[in-house]
Amino acid sequence: MTPETNRNSNFYRPPKTGRKSQREAEYYASSNAGMSNTHLANRQAFYRHRLIPNQLIDTNNRSTKTTIFNHSVSAPIGFAPIGINKIYNPAGEAAVSKVASELNLPYCLSTAGSTSIEKVASANGAGTRFFQLYMPHDDELTVSLLTRAWENGFDALILTTDTWQLGWRHDDVASSNYAFYRGFGADLGLSDPVFRRRCVADGIDPDVDVVAASTKWIDSVWHGRAWSWEKIPWLMETWRGISGGRPFVIKGIQSVGDARRCVELGVEGIVVSNHAGRQVDGAVASLDALERIAEAVGERIYVMFDSGVRGASDVVKALALGARFVFIGRLWIWGLSIQGEDGVRHVMKSLLADLDILMGVAGFNGVEDFNRDILESDSKNYTLMQKNL
Ligand SMILES: Cc1cc2nc3c(=O)[nH]c(=O)nc-3n(C[C@H](O)[C@H](O)[C@H](O)COP(=O)(O)O)c2cc1C
Repeated sequence: MTPETNRNSNFYRPPKTGRKSQREAEYYASSNAGMSNTHLANRQAFYRHRLIPNQLIDTNNRSTKTTIFNHSVSAPIGFAPIGINKIYNPAGEAAVSKVASELNLPYCLSTAGSTSIEKVASANGAGTRFFQLYMPHDDELTVSLLTRAWENGFDALILTTDTWQLGWRHDDVASSNYAFYRGFGADLGLSDPVFRRRCVADGIDPDVDVVAASTKWIDSVWHGRAWSWEKIPWLMETWRGISGGRPFVIKGIQSVGDARRCVELGVEGIVVSNHAGRQVDGAVASLDALERIAEAVGERIYVMFDSGVRGASDVVKALALGARFVFIGRLWIWGLSIQGEDGVRHVMKSLLADLDILMGVAGFNGVEDFNRDILESDSKNYTLMQKNL
């Protein structure tokens, strides 16, 4: 089955362009796990909650500003970690992190990035940036990545725990759409002294055989080998030792039990996320997970959210349900795909404008106004079909 004939998929397809590589990028960004049911659930959950606008509130001095881990930022909105940005546009992570800095929104660099830690830091300048770890089964390599991240101003560590390997994504499987095995997405490894030593030990010259080195990189950080809770104290202590105690976050939490375990272990923050529905098909909506998790542990840990946010009202709903901060993924990838750096800037500035205007017209003055009282929630099954993003 080719991507074009997979009519069961209910996920968004951007308009086709002529270039094969561009089509591959579009498919990679659009693919979800299995039948896309988790993605659908993510979007449906937003429809079950409705905002209740207030009238005659003086919102003339409203502000979208907030803080995250002691950083003052423009809005409770950040750039989610997304790998291999250069498949969408050659400007890649440097352009995206530059825009994040301009807008004063936090930027998260993925371990599967296609631009080195050092170059991203330079493009991001004085911006707020965090490092997302896909954790190698090679402690020396992990320490090397964390050290480079800290020395280059990445101020929080975010461990992603839902992707020990890529989910079963029909379209990518059908078309063998894995840029990682074509030499993309290994830049953090190719620029790492420990990883380069590992390549040489295996007879790979990382400067000459980039495809072999990239394959080795992605197999080093992924591919079927899970870590378990027992390793978390080591990672926290290692990061805190390197960074002098900066925050440690786990991304991918969906159950109350796991959220409680994070609290018990002393993890500073969690990102309630199901990876945009790309990992487990038929799973709970991330927004529904958020509601339960925030109720259980929201007072004891910094709760962040992502998966399915497509506009400012979604941001507000997530905050009203207990998130303190929201990350955005596909929106800015689409901007990057369509118009490079300008596309990312346009999409994220539009989201900020959307949020500001929504606050103005619905009677909200600041993020502290977003709470359960502004939501009407309905358990009826609102059907939202495939055309929605
Ligand atoms: C194309 C694509 C690549 C992604 N790459 C990563 C990654 O490298 N690391 C990671 O932790 N999450 C990754 N994610 C998940 C995002 O960080 C985030 O959880 C998700 O995109 C949020 O949902 P949204 O796209 O609906 O906003 C990726 C998501 C997409 C769509």
